[in-house]
Amino acid sequence: MNRLDGSVVLIAGAASGIGAAIARRCVAEGASVVCADQELAAAQALADGLGAAAAACHCDVTDAASACGAVGIARQRFGRLDGLVHNAAAPSTNANVVDLDEHSWRRELDVSLTGAFLMSKFAVPLIAAGGGGSVVFIGSQFGRVATSRAVAYCAAKAGLIHLAKAMAVDHAPDKVRVNSLSPGAVATARLLRRFPDYEAANAGLGPAHLLGRIAEPDEIAAAAAFLLSSDASFVTGSDMLVDGGYATR
Ligand SMILES: NC(=O)c1ccc[n+]([C@@H]2O[C@H](COP(=O)([O-])OP(=O)(O)OC[C@H]3O[C@@H](n4cnc5c(N)ncnc54)[C@H](O)[C@@H]3O)[C@@H](O)[C@H]2O)c1
Repeated sequence: MNRLDGSVVLIAGAASGIGAAIARRCVAEGASVVCADQELAAAQALADGLGAAAAACHCDVTDAASACGAVGIARQRFGRLDGLVHNAAAPSTNANVVDLDEHSWRRELDVSLTGAFLMSKFAVPLIAAGGGGSVVFIGSQFGRVATSRAVAYCAAKAGLIHLAKAMAVDHAPDKVRVNSLSPGAVATARLLRRFPDYEAANAGLGPAHLLGRIAEPDEIAAAAAFLLSSDASFVTGSDMLVDGGYATR
């Protein structure tokens, strides 16, 4: 499929896991990508592996100048921007509201929510200037249903879902569609480090999903590519659950 032929997608938090899978999928579907991440070496290695269709840059999504700079790379290198994926998230905290320290709370909201705001602030005008496009925020099923000892994560991801809706209202006249994509548990290093191995993660978390297993990053990337593409031309303001049925019961 070449649904993204000729388009340019900026992925914030592209260096690993789901973000890297989205970058690979976008290039496989014909897009050029900017792999932006605070981990420049890993983002650069990813871009090098993807060839001329990919560029990498250092980006801290919590910093306005850095977010603006990543959008500037898209303009300089590829001359346009059609899609933004905000995928970055801080390491998860494992705390209830009483235990959670203020710094961790602020960090989690800063990367997920303020990062989405800053990336969008600079990306949306360039996307609109090119005639429109698509913004995708990577949320979580925990933005829809709550879980224990994840107050900052749940609040940040719920905020992302509604930020996407509010932006969809504002930018529909610019033909900029804005959606969130909420995965269930996905087999990335971020998740697997909490378990001895993949089998333990799948056995521990899989049964909470109707499909009885955790997801692969490519399954989330496929959904992101759909939202970025013209196949989703009538989809805006939605939260797309890609959670194997986790939030259904
Ligand atoms: N893995 C899962 O089970 C799962 C489930 C639901 C939602 N998600 C969401 O999917 C997204 C990706 O998760 P993942 O598992 O691939 O995790 P990951 O940690 O591999 O990816 C996050 C990326 O964001 C980058 N990042 C962090 N802070 C940043 C900052 N300030 N500026 C720029 N980049 C920054 C990291 O360097 C990393 O490359 C996250 O938003 C996560 O909340 C993951």
